[in-house]
Amino acid sequence: CKAMSENGDMIKGHFRKDFMWGAATASYQIEGAWDKDGKGQSIWDTYAHTEGAIEDGTNGDITCDTYHKYLEDIKMLKRLKATHYRFSLSWSRLLPTADSSAPNAAGVAFYNKFIDGLLANNIKPCVTLYHWDLPQCVQDKGGWQSEDVVEKFKEYADFCFSQFGDRVKLWVTINEPHVQCGFGFGMGIHAPGIKGQFSHPMNACYQVSRTMLLSHAHTYRMYSSKYRAKQNGLISITLNSDWCEPKDPSNPDHVKAAQFYIDATLGWFAHPIFKDGDYPDSMKEHILEMLPVLSEQEKNLIKGTYDFFGLNHYTTRLAEQITDETQAFAIHPDMPSFVYPDPSWERAGKQVIGSEWLFIVPTGLRKLLNYISKTYGDPSIIITENGCSTKHSVNNPGDTKQLEDEQRCRFITSYLNEALKAHLLDGVDLRGYFLWTLMDNFEWAAGYTERFGLYHVDFEDPARTRTPRKSAATFTKIIE
Ligand code: NOJ
Repeated sequence: CKAMSENGDMIKGHFRKDFMWGAATASYQIEGAWDKDGKGQSIWDTYAHTEGAIEDGTNGDITCDTYHKYLEDIKMLKRLKATHYRFSLSWSRLLPTADSSAPNAAGVAFYNKFIDGLLANNIKPCVTLYHWDLPQCVQDKGGWQSEDVVEKFKEYADFCFSQFGDRVKLWVTINEPHVQCGFGFGMGIHAPGIKGQFSHPMNACYQVSRTMLLSHAHTYRMYSSKYRAKQNGLISITLNSDWCEPKDPSNPDHVKAAQFYIDATLGWFAHPIFKDGDYPDSMKEHILEMLPVLSEQEKNLIKGTYDFFGLNHYTTRLAEQITDETQAFAIHPDMPSFVYPDPSWERAGKQVIGSEWLFIVPTGLRKLLNYISKTYGDPSIIITENGCSTKHSVNNPGDTKQLEDEQRCRFITSYLNEALKAHLLDGVDLRGYFLWTLMDNFEWAAGYTERFGLYHVDFEDPARTRTPRKSAATFTKIIE
């Protein structure tokens, strides 16, 4: 078994009996109805309506129209044989003015119907509180850059636990804070579109990482003290990470560069929460003057605020440390490391060019799961996202639906098999797998040009017809 697994061959076996099998989505990416029934505006409504922000000039105004078609989504999940479904709540649909004493009854009713519908079909909800769509009114008061957001987030979370916690037993506070910080407040290519500068002492992305950590931690502790005894659910955060290896494992500089890449993505949030309350040493060494210092009290507050480790993983990189800074993917100018894919790795959507960043390296998942298990004291891990894209153009009538998505079938099978190896052969405590994503949807800055769905969605059709791809059947077969 061991020899086979090291060759990348498939093994046979089972996950736990209570393994969570599901698909994942996010509110702004699927719901639509952006201004219907009392919903407030979010930063993604604002950002996507900004000229030039989205690659194909589209937005999430209607997207999959799940707000009106949620019963179909439930049917699709049922047909997949999913045991769980991960989706996010739209904060501005529930609390249009971010004030919990003035909720939007239609928004509450929508999620109640949805949750009840899932449960009636024996599908358990896994609910993300925040998948990047901050209410615009919170942004207008400083958003994640203001300390006030921590109380606002807690108030929103409290409201959600009080309304839905009798039925929702699996919560994720924040999705991929690393991406939100880097893209939203560093590169400025996601909402709210703030471009930071690495040389600036209060670089926005580091500033907001602190308010996100504090929001998560306060929310976890509030759930524990106020709701846990009655509701008996699990709550944590979802972090994203590539796996990263030194280009030359015998070169200490390459080893250091790979470790720094993992520290500055995964470790940035994982060390404080899952380890010792503080950022990784390598980050403090290289980014010191920009990382807001966490006080002893804050470290104690943040440390240990998890019931499981939520992991989003897609791809792998090689790293080396180079001296030519012009070439460096400088996570920080003092630490010029260069990360890139191995040219021999298969790329997502090879035939039709999928997401440019997504190279298919299933073995990276097993290595990352082992790394997390060893570094963070063997937590229960739930893979909250993993998936593969193809490139489409909504405006190109010749574009096919790519229903025979062989590559995605292979992706799912091979990544899941590496996850199985991590579980069976390496003893990683893996509890669940959520595939990204149930159906094609609004892929942030890429609009509708990149598709990750088990179901194809026709965005030119007002009915937003959903059609299963071959990968849907593949996934079901594995679940079965
Ligand atoms: C992670 C994000 O959570 C999700 O919203 C996004 O669509 C997928 N990655 C694919 O890029």
